[in-house]
This record gives sequence, structure tokens and C-alpha cells, in this order.
Amino acid sequence: MTDSTAKLEIGGKEMELNVRPGSVGPSVVDIAALYKETGMFTYDPGFTSTASCESKITYIDGDEGVLLHRGYPIDQLAEHGDFLEVCYLLLYGELPTKVQKEDFDYRVTRHTMLHEQMSRFFTGFRRDAHPMAVMCGVVGALSAFYHDSTDISDPHQRMVASMRMIAKMPTIAAMAYKYHIGQPFIYPKNELSYAANFLHMCFAVPCEDYKANPVLARAMDRIFILHADHEQNASTSTVRLAGSSGANPFACIAAGIACLWGPAHGGANEAALNMLAEIGTVDRIPEFIERAKDKNDPFRLMGFGHRVYKNYDPRAKIMQRTTHEVLAELGVKDDPLLEVAMELEKIALTDEYFIEKKLYPNIDFYSGITLKAMGFPTTMFTVLFALARTVGWIAQWKEMIEDPHQKIGRPRQLYTGEQSRDYVPIAKR
Ligand code: SDX
Repeated sequence: MTDSTAKLEIGGKEMELNVRPGSVGPSVVDIAALYKETGMFTYDPGFTSTASCESKITYIDGDEGVLLHRGYPIDQLAEHGDFLEVCYLLLYGELPTKVQKEDFDYRVTRHTMLHEQMSRFFTGFRRDAHPMAVMCGVVGALSAFYHDSTDISDPHQRMVASMRMIAKMPTIAAMAYKYHIGQPFIYPKNELSYAANFLHMCFAVPCEDYKANPVLARAMDRIFILHADHEQNASTSTVRLAGSSGANPFACIAAGIACLWGPAHGGANEAALNMLAEIGTVDRIPEFIERAKDKNDPFRLMGFGHRVYKNYDPRAKIMQRTTHEVLAELGVKDDPLLEVAMELEKIALTDEYFIEKKLYPNIDFYSGITLKAMGFPTTMFTVLFALARTVGWIAQWKEMIEDPHQKIGRPRQLYTGEQSRDYVPIAKR
């Protein structure tokens, strides 16, 4: 991988810019010196053509519909691995040996309990608060309870904070759910796997024994794998920007949760299921397809389209298979929402508009149907996304902090406002 150069001529002045190739995917033109050399900025408000950082964690080939985590294809990881193995891979860069995996699982399992004082934190919220609002509050408050892992300059504290986040997010998410439905909190159980423990904390009640259905636990674990990391998406970029100022990791993750909540991002799984319910029956699909194509109608097909994927989101294919597995295990024969989803996908993928704009189902299109069948309310869908994405946020945050060239992120702007003018006393306005 050798660098090359690009020539840029601005205002009669020629400038040579360094071009750096990636190990795979697009090269980058290094414009860091552009402003100093030309007094000009580049302009790319949605970052459609802008690399914000160098990373070795995840790579997406949007045209081919490929997703690699440290080089391993998502379909192989989802098929053969488990979520904590993917967490280890994202954090350390290699698949763990048997001994490393056992040690990692042990360490995560022993960090799943939350400081008992934090359980009172939930009682400050209304029961009908959206669980994502609770997640923003409670995760942001973690730094008020775990002072011994907020010094980001200490590698040991960075790792402890990372383990605490990965381990405690299922406990916090389950507590947010239990609080929402008025049931008592259920403590984690160390003998359970990560996904089974989460299902147990969500669906067990003190009055009877609960054993997670192994098929559902496996599906939950796979859903976590599919949501673990995804390059520099909006919420990951939020976590990196927050972390670049030196903010503690808990606060950075809370910022990521807030960004993920938006319906254009992680909130799309909740919005997609609500959309399928609004469509209701197959015969109403054409009406909604037309609305999605109408420039004057803000309606968009939730769960469709992607900034990077201009082909089928590989996660959506695995998600669709998981949906059928879960519905079969639960004996759900003809789920009306699934019927609408399958027909909607079929129609959209043959429609000129969607073909021309390369709009395919993304991970959020099928996840809602699966999670609803598993017993989660729609308000919990993005909470589960945040739970899984925490390892990606943490891995990207760690990579940024450990980058010797890292500096605070501070974008510039194209200013088109008023030029300097004098104050006018109110009597003269
Ligand atoms: C996630 O970045 C990530 O990696 C995110 C994510 C992750 O794992 O972190 O993959 C998770 O957020 C998946 C995306 C979930 N969001 C949705 O499903 C919401 C619906 N999708 C759209 O809002 C949209 O597709 C985005 C936000 C996902 C992508 O938006 P872009 O890249 O800014 O694309 P765009 O809005 O510029 O759309 C391009 C064209 C537009 O038409 P024109 O202005 O060119 O005429 O496609 C149209 C859009 O109007 N379009 C859609 C559409 N998505 C895009 N039209 C109808 N329905 C849609 N869903």
C-alpha cells in the first residue's frame, strides 16, 4: 500500500495532496493542510465523501453488500461465533483462543451487577417514559458511580470501563424494561450465557422459575452480533467526537445512545414496525410505496435505504432468516406484519424508484418483527440496538483514544450569515 499524490489547483495556485490507500476500499486524499495552504475549507455536511478517521475495526463494501469485523465476514461470525467472541474480536483485533475466551466471558460475567444505589435512579422517571430516555439518563449517570474507571489516560481504567459497559448494558436495559412494565428488577445470574441472562432479566418474575428458550437465546445472541459495530455511523461518530474532548467513556456512550435514538438511525427498527402496523394489510402497500416516492410527502419506508449499502444489507438477510427461525419456534404461523413486510420488500425491490436509488432493506426492516415475537414492546427495540452497539462504540472510542495523532474534533463551516454590523438601540429599531 504505497501513497500517491493528487494535484489541486485553486486560485491559480497548484497544490499537491497526499493520497493514502486503504488495505481495502477507497483511498483518501489528505486535505489536513488545505486551509493552511489555501485559506479554504472543504464542504461535505453529511460526510458523504469524508473519512473522519483511520480505523482497523470494521469495513463495509456498500456496493457488494459486504460487512467485515477485523476482516471476518458478518455471516461467518453470526453463524459460528457468539456475541462475546465478537466483542473480544472488536476490542482486541483477533479471535480469542479457548483460554482467552473463557477468561473474557468470566470477566464480563462478573461485571454484570449494577451499583445497588443506581436502582433508585429509575424511580425518578415516569413509568411511561420511553426506555431510551431512561437509558440516556442512567448510562450518563454511570460516571457518578464508577469513578475508578473514568481516567482515560490509564489503559487499565480504559479496559475496566470497557468491560463494565459491555457487562452492565444488558442489566440496565432489562431494568429499564422492568421499570416500564411495573415489574420488579431481576438480578443477573452468572451461570447463564450473555443472551440467556438478558432474556432472564427481562422475562423472569420472582414468583416462578424461568428458563430461556435456547432457540430464542441463540437468536438474541445473533441479533446482538448483527448490531455490534458498523464503521463511522452517526452514533459511533458521536461517541468519537465526544471522546475526542477527553469526556469519560460512560458520558460518551450516553451521547451515542442519544444519537442512535433518531428514527433515521437506530430508531428505525421501532419506526419500521410501527409503519408495518400502519400499513396493516398487503392491499395497502401500493399507497405507501407511492407516498415514499412523493417528494412532497416526508414519509419514507422505514427499514429501507442506507448511506453506505447500495445493495442488500448483509445483516438484513441474516435477520430475515432469524425472523423465520423465531416465528417457527414460537409456532407463529402467519404473522400479518411479516406477510406485509415480505410483500413490501418484494414490491419495493421491483419498483423503478427503489432500483434507481438503490434502496434495499436494512437491518432495521426485519428486526422489529423478530423482537416483537420474542415479547419485547416496540419501545424496547432501539434499547436492544444500543445494548449490542455498545461494544462497537467502546472499541471505536478506545481506538481513537489510543491513536497517537488523535486531537479534539472541531469541524469548520461555510458561513453565510450577516457580516459585521453595529448594535442598534431598541428605541431605534
Ligand atoms: C441504520 O450508518 C449506518 O451504518 C447506520 C446503521 C448502523 O448499523 O449503524 O446501518 C443503522 O441507521 C440503518 C438505517 C435505518 N434508517 C432507516 O431505515 C430510515 C429510512 N431510511 C432513510 O431515512 C435513509 O435511507 C437513510 C437515512 C438510512 C440514508 O439516508 P441518506 O444516505 O442520506 O440517503 P438520502 O436520504 O440522501 O436518500 C437518497 C435518496 C433520496 O431521494 P433524492 O433526494 O435523491 O430524490 O433516496 C431516497 C431519498 O428521498 N430515500 C428514500 C428512502 N431512503 C432514501 N425514499 C423512500 N424511502 C426510504 N427509506
